[in-house]
Amino acid sequence: MTIFHTPTEWRALRPSGTLGFVPTMGALHDGHLALVKTALAQCEHAAVSIYVNPTQFNNPEDFAKYPSTFEDDCRLLEEVGCGFVFAPTYETLYPDSYRYRVTETETSTVLEGAHRPGHFDGVLTVVLKLFNCLQADAAFFGEKDYQQLLLVKEMAEALHHPTKVIACPTVREPDGIAMSSRNRRLNPAQRALATQWAQTLANTTLSCDAATQDLTELGFTVDYIAERWGRRLGAVHTPPLDNGPVVRLIDNIAL
Ligand code: PAF
Repeated sequence: MTIFHTPTEWRALRPSGTLGFVPTMGALHDGHLALVKTALAQCEHAAVSIYVNPTQFNNPEDFAKYPSTFEDDCRLLEEVGCGFVFAPTYETLYPDSYRYRVTETETSTVLEGAHRPGHFDGVLTVVLKLFNCLQADAAFFGEKDYQQLLLVKEMAEALHHPTKVIACPTVREPDGIAMSSRNRRLNPAQRALATQWAQTLANTTLSCDAATQDLTELGFTVDYIAERWGRRLGAVHTPPLDNGPVVRLIDNIAL
């Protein structure tokens, strides 16, 4: 597996044949690896980017605490047959110091966008930069970040980007929790409580208001539970059980 850091290096390295791209912020789990396996099933080569993108964090503490496990990530990627890892620096990706950015004005203003000002500008800008650097045939995104997936798909179409955006199902733990790099920050008590977050969101016999009330009674702070785009989507903050950190969890299910 080859690790590279700049688009110039990539131009010399890029193999012939179709390329599938999986953008990540590292701290890889089976959900990411499933995306890489799908990329390899549909394309001849796979490239993964590992870059914790500062412009999409509206909360500096969340950015500072984002897990970083680069060596483990590379080992896992090698095991599933990934050929290339792009690990750029801020200076390489943002030669403009983020003076140029992509802003969407509708889908990005609700739900995650309403609770995380500037988040989707950061996501869309870095994804467009990564797409331009890699020039892949297809890019693979998980449905767990459903609003992100919609926005990236719409952006690629709106800006006539040749990279095709492909949606892949959310990978879950046996108790139903969506795999997420943030789950690593939960202590055992919070991890046990998080099972009820996944189960309450998936219980469509409850109205969104009733689900919000149940989650609040369990100790979660609910940002939103809402139905849009044929899905029920939600975001909560865990209570700091046993002095654990407050961790923001998001998920969605198809209705
Ligand atoms: O979903 C993520 O991990 C990030 O938002 C992405 C797409 C890698 C952009 O930084």
